Amino acid sequence: MRRAPVKLPTPHPSGAKPPQLAKDQVPRHVAIVMDGNGRWARKRYMPRFFGHKQGVDALVRTVLACADRGVEYLTVFAFSSENWKRPSEEVSGLMGLVLVAVSKYLAKLAGDGVRVRIVGDRAQVSDKLREAWQHAEDSTRHNTRINLSVAFNYGGRWDIVQACRQAMAAGLRAEDLDEAALNSYLALSYAPDPDLFIRTGGEVRISNFLLWQAAYAELYVTDTLWPDFGETAIHDALSDFSSRERKFGAISESLERVPAHAGIVQHATRAE
Ligand code: FPP
Repeated sequence: MRRAPVKLPTPHPSGAKPPQLAKDQVPRHVAIVMDGNGRWARKRYMPRFFGHKQGVDALVRTVLACADRGVEYLTVFAFSSENWKRPSEEVSGLMGLVLVAVSKYLAKLAGDGVRVRIVGDRAQVSDKLREAWQHAEDSTRHNTRINLSVAFNYGGRWDIVQACRQAMAAGLRAEDLDEAALNSYLALSYAPDPDLFIRTGGEVRISNFLLWQAAYAELYVTDTLWPDFGETAIHDALSDFSSRERKFGAISESLERVPAHAGIVQHATRAE
């Protein structure tokens, strides 16, 4: 069942202060599968890389739009464990784009209070890329306005396996393994579970993103292609989120006091 969405005026293109949702209607954590770069480029008779390049600008717009609205965590899927299957020139183009993006936008994001973290398997990427990630993380470490996690060479299954390996290496006994214990070894252990899971580009799939963490996320799919995403699209997604009744396995009548961003961990006893 849905509640009536909170009516928000459309954000003003002049950049005037965005309309605000009540704090308990804003998702604390938004996760995004940024899909549609290739199609966006193809529509313009341009190479796919052009779409990825525009995708970086869309990402910066989206981070700032989320920060303006009080979202505390934003996690985006930039390169999946499976993306190595793409043509080698696209893979190397994406790797190079990260370096360009860091040198072009890191100072701006750092100045705007964004803390950047990278989640994923760093073993397979080049030293240069690892150094760029490290630099991005180190130079934004003290920022608190919004936490941007860039999933790169990441897969939900990879994450669960690496967490199990870490837990076993730490000597965790089977009887001590529970959801909270496993969660503490996952790549996003510092973040609450995502409340809102957005996918752009119209496909209705999770694609191995945040398999564990998205257990109770509200799903939102839009036909908007990622390079077109930004202020208005975030506005629409958050407005839609405000209409969702989140039950975490309970029933409507017992939920009066559960805020929209309350997570599964806090409400585990309510689950089926
Ligand atoms: C999916 O679109 C997009 C990707 C695999 C790459 C996402 C990367 C960016 C948005 C660049 C920004 C990230 C960083 C950190 C540099 P697709 O190529 O599958 O599009 P299609 O479905 O239209 O073919």
